[in-house]
Amino acid sequence: MGRTGRRAVIRGTGSSLPEKVLSNFDLEKMVDTSDEWITSRTGIRERRIARDDEAMSIFAIRAGQEALRAAGLEAADVDLVICATVTPDLPIPATACLIQSALDARNAAAFDLSAGCSGFIYGLAAADAFIAAGLYRNVLLIGAELLSKYVDWTDRATCVLFGDGAGAVVLTPGDGPSGVLATSTHADGGMADFIYVPAGGTREPASARTVSERRHFIRMKGNETFKMAVRSMEEASREVLDRAGLQAADIDLFISHQANRRIIDAVGSRLNLRADQVYVNIDRVGNTSAASIPIALDEAVRKGLLKDGALLLCSAFGTGLTWGAALCKWGR
Ligand code: ACO
Repeated sequence: MGRTGRRAVIRGTGSSLPEKVLSNFDLEKMVDTSDEWITSRTGIRERRIARDDEAMSIFAIRAGQEALRAAGLEAADVDLVICATVTPDLPIPATACLIQSALDARNAAAFDLSAGCSGFIYGLAAADAFIAAGLYRNVLLIGAELLSKYVDWTDRATCVLFGDGAGAVVLTPGDGPSGVLATSTHADGGMADFIYVPAGGTREPASARTVSERRHFIRMKGNETFKMAVRSMEEASREVLDRAGLQAADIDLFISHQANRRIIDAVGSRLNLRADQVYVNIDRVGNTSAASIPIALDEAVRKGLLKDGALLLCSAFGTGLTWGAALCKWGR
């Protein structure tokens, strides 16, 4: 049966997207692609793209401020800032520290969490464990990415997929029925080359050669990733439902990582979910990696889709490979 005792409760959500919209028709002018191909293969119609002078933390800070406002907390109340991202402002130090300073969260510890598109699920599992253990009380968990800065804008197989943005949640302890009921987190580094950036780390530091060979951009095995994504998100979702003693039919809202409309539909259908149980915003934002679930969650909250007592299932997969799921009962 499900767990008892102290758990993390989501008290507030926030999100922030860049102003600039890049449509499939804009992409038609940049690479050999078409709106028809992108829409039918991915479900994406447009995505938001940051300006050249905008760094990831700008959106992370805005999302964090909104989540704090929604939770009714001050920045000084925060004990821990986690920033789930693979697109930090700088290689060193952690962007979470820059966010902590900008928010004036002076009492908070801060670290980045690198788990690709599963970053928000990993962050939720970590925040829940910290809170359940009594190590921290108020955790600001942000998922934020500017993938546009890591995308090869000459590679049609990847540049049509990604978008920029940030989403955030504030988590605090609760002893009642609401909060995180179960999480599952998995990894298999044997598939690290499914989605990766070859250069810029200690294996291949930046050099004139790595730049000229375009080795600082994302490379992806799309087909292999697709199959793994469907299988892994279904399994992780079943795992958290089993742990909580619940069925897929009990779910009020399923927020999957928004990587590809066909992946979301395939997982929903394997779990026998109806269309109205599945939240989709990929048509407007594309794949925003670790930001994808918290952006969708914030939209769902603002649309009033999560009433007190509602059961929320989230699942994700991403580079690593990593994958996981989280089950939450909504309410304060
Ligand atoms: N426009 C037009 N044609 C294209 C485009 C494009 N943008 N991209 C690829 N094609 C072509 C290919 O060249 C290929 O042509 P060919 O048959 O002549 O060789 C054809 O379309 C089919 O290509 P596939 O790769 O088989 O297409 P598929 O249906 O698998 O869709 C896609 C590709 C959308 C990438 C899909 O595989 C996918 O979504 N995979 C999952 C990727 C993912 O979600 N990654 C997320 C993790 S990211 C992270 O963690 C940071």
